Amino acid sequence: MSKKNILFVCLGNICRSPLAEGVAKTINQKQDLGLIIDSAGTSAWHEGEIPCEDSIRIAKMHGIDISKFRARQVQMKDRTIFDYVIAMDKSNKENLEKMGFTDVYLLGEFANYDCKDVPDPYFFETFDDGIKSVYIMIEQCVKDLLKRINNGSV
Ligand code: 4NP
Repeated sequence: MSKKNILFVCLGNICRSPLAEGVAKTINQKQDLGLIIDSAGTSAWHEGEIPCEDSIRIAKMHGIDISKFRARQVQMKDRTIFDYVIAMDKSNKENLEKMGFTDVYLLGEFANYDCKDVPDPYFFETFDDGIKSVYIMIEQCVKDLLKRINNGSV
């Protein structure tokens, strides 16, 4: 496996992409895949902040600590650093393409989800509004992505 750097991207880098990063890093460690995994946001709105409360909580419920992650904005140099750039929704993908990123995948393309966009928990009012299903979608898609990277089919 020669291509091994993965960047997960959402808007704020505080809700969805830190969850994807946390799940991917956990699988990477358990399966010793040798991947380099990071996440970023297309905006700088939450630069330096920890992930949102609900994402930290749902990750913790699955044994994953993302509380030390800090938000950062996508940079132009990420175009040459990362082999796989995985956007959480179509608007993230469009924003990346405007920056000159090519071959951006949608996370929802993996694991056969009808809706290719990962819903944004930032707009949920309570913890029970859907973060659990967002987590499940992210976990299934990340598992599939890593399996496909590992077997060379993506
Ligand atoms: P994320 O969610 O892109 O999954 O991190 C959001 C976080 C912050 C905002 C929007 C979405 N915001 O408008 O500040």
